[in-house]
Amino acid sequence: MARILTGIQSSGIPHLGNLLGAIIPAIELSKDPENESLFFIADMHSLTTIRDAELLKENTFATAAAWLAFGFNTDSNIFYRQSDIPEVCEMMWYLNCLTPYPMLANAHSFKDKASKLHNVNAGLFTYPVLMAADILLYDAEIVPVGKDQIQHIEMTRDMAGAFNHTYGETLVEPKTNVDERVMIIPGTDGQKMSKSYNNFINIFLTDKKLRKQIMGIQTDSTAMEDPKETDGCNVFTLYKLLATSEETAVMKANYEGGNYGYGHAKQALYELIIIKYATERAKFTELMEDKTLIEEELQKGALKARNIAQSVLKRVRTKVGY
Ligand code: ADP
Ligand code: TRP
Repeated sequence: MARILTGIQSSGIPHLGNLLGAIIPAIELSKDPENESLFFIADMHSLTTIRDAELLKENTFATAAAWLAFGFNTDSNIFYRQSDIPEVCEMMWYLNCLTPYPMLANAHSFKDKASKLHNVNAGLFTYPVLMAADILLYDAEIVPVGKDQIQHIEMTRDMAGAFNHTYGETLVEPKTNVDERVMIIPGTDGQKMSKSYNNFINIFLTDKKLRKQIMGIQTDSTAMEDPKETDGCNVFTLYKLLATSEETAVMKANYEGGNYGYGHAKQALYELIIIKYATERAKFTELMEDKTLIEEELQKGALKARNIAQSVLKRVRTKVGY
């Protein structure tokens, strides 16, 4: 049995890119009865950028609601909130003391954030150590992540290796699992869909707001009557990702036939999302209206996660000499 673990920051409401690129594939992986999955909301990592307590709380619930709405089975797996397991901070300290300063200073994601932000806090600097603690605290074997996170997993392996080298075999060195089939989902402007570029589609919005986001997808100025290119069209790309091959063929014929405007294509995309995700959208809204159930799920998961965390930490404490 493989233990799979992944986290997603609560830095906003999960968008279509997060869902198609991370949440849905992870849930699919968790359905294999050979696996045990630990999925968590990295709300301590979010503190590196979010300073509004209410917003942090709301984002954490929305992220949890998205996992639950898409059917993550919390009985056969473990679903929790990072901040409910304070053991992770202790684990982080042990790893901090074995992590060379240049390794953190040279990390791509740190250099990238440090060049863009005005306030570079130590949390951003030690972000990969907290992430390594997240993984090593649960003896995780496989960590599914996007390409941008690969370096963090390599650093995690280095930290586990350094610990094992110093104190003897203690921690499990995890493997990355990058699903090459998972493509980068483009946003409304054709760049990678991201919370930070404000080009996302949030399928959990009300019908009216969702339609407005979809109508905002950038297109070229080909006239309504003229045939249109499907290649490179943001509306078509998103439609193709969600539609069946028959529906895509019909849309392609509409593009090539002319007398079919981008407004029509956007309307079709909107209707497709509404139909395809009807159940998940309704479930998300229901969970967010009364958050008791989300809280109960997270508490249930915290008990299970803490059990594992405490036993691994006990092993670590003995090794370091406590
Ligand atoms: P964002 O860029 O919106 O802040 P995150 O960095 O929080 O997203 O990513 C959370 C997860 O969603 C990661 O596993 C990441 O690889 C995945 N992800 C984010 N944006 C996309 C996208 N446009 N296409 C595919 N996967 C994505
Ligand atoms: N850093 C990851 C991201 O931004 C989120 C994360 C935190 C994570 N801890 C983790 C992912 C542990 C995998 C394993 O996407």
